[in-house]
Amino acid sequence: MQIKKIDESFLNEIYKISFSEFCEESYSLSQLKDCLNNKDYICLGAFLNNEITSYIIALETVDDINILSIATKKEHKNKGFASSLIEEIKKYALNQKKSVSLEVKSKNITAYNLYNKLGFKVISKRLNYYKDKDTAIIMFFNLQQ
Ligand SMILES: CC(C)(COP(=O)(O)OP(=O)(O)OC[C@H]1O[C@@H](n2cnc3c(N)ncnc32)[C@H](O)[C@@H]1OP(=O)(O)O)[C@@H](O)C(=O)NCCC(=O)NCCS
Repeated sequence: MQIKKIDESFLNEIYKISFSEFCEESYSLSQLKDCLNNKDYICLGAFLNNEITSYIIALETVDDINILSIATKKEHKNKGFASSLIEEIKKYALNQKKSVSLEVKSKNITAYNLYNKLGFKVISKRLNYYKDKDTAIIMFFNLQQ
């Protein structure tokens, strides 16, 4: 497996993965394009034999790196691709002395378990946050802890 920075040349592939995983909650093509072209966003892909299997998009601010979107192609799930991408972000955050934060739907047990396994702690909840009234769970990984 390889982890590489991705740019606009991956826009269509990223959108395909995002749309197939998030459906109508997916980022739009133009939102993804903005992320891929803005240096404040960290955009990484996990690759297997030159095929992109998984991506992560995170917004870097002065003291935090906020994971905005992460998804893995169906046929490549549960092979450690998302974990490796998150570990890469954690490594970068450690270097920069920044925290890592994210938000996950309470119904999304798979993603919640993954973040929990990687050391993220729940810091707050936003009830009825999503269109479907699901709760948003805010999780945080503080490297100083
Ligand atoms: C969440 C997601 C990104 C994980 O990608 P992945 O590449 O399969 O993740 P990894 O292989 O690195 O990690 C798998 C971990 O997910 C969790 N997991 C996987 N399947 C699960 C299930 N059926 N029930 C509970 N937890 C599960 C476990 O913690 C598992 O680790 P383990 O095998 O050590 O127990 C992927 O499932 C996905 O694309 N989901 C749809 C998009 C999404 O929900 N993104 C997150 C939005 S906040």
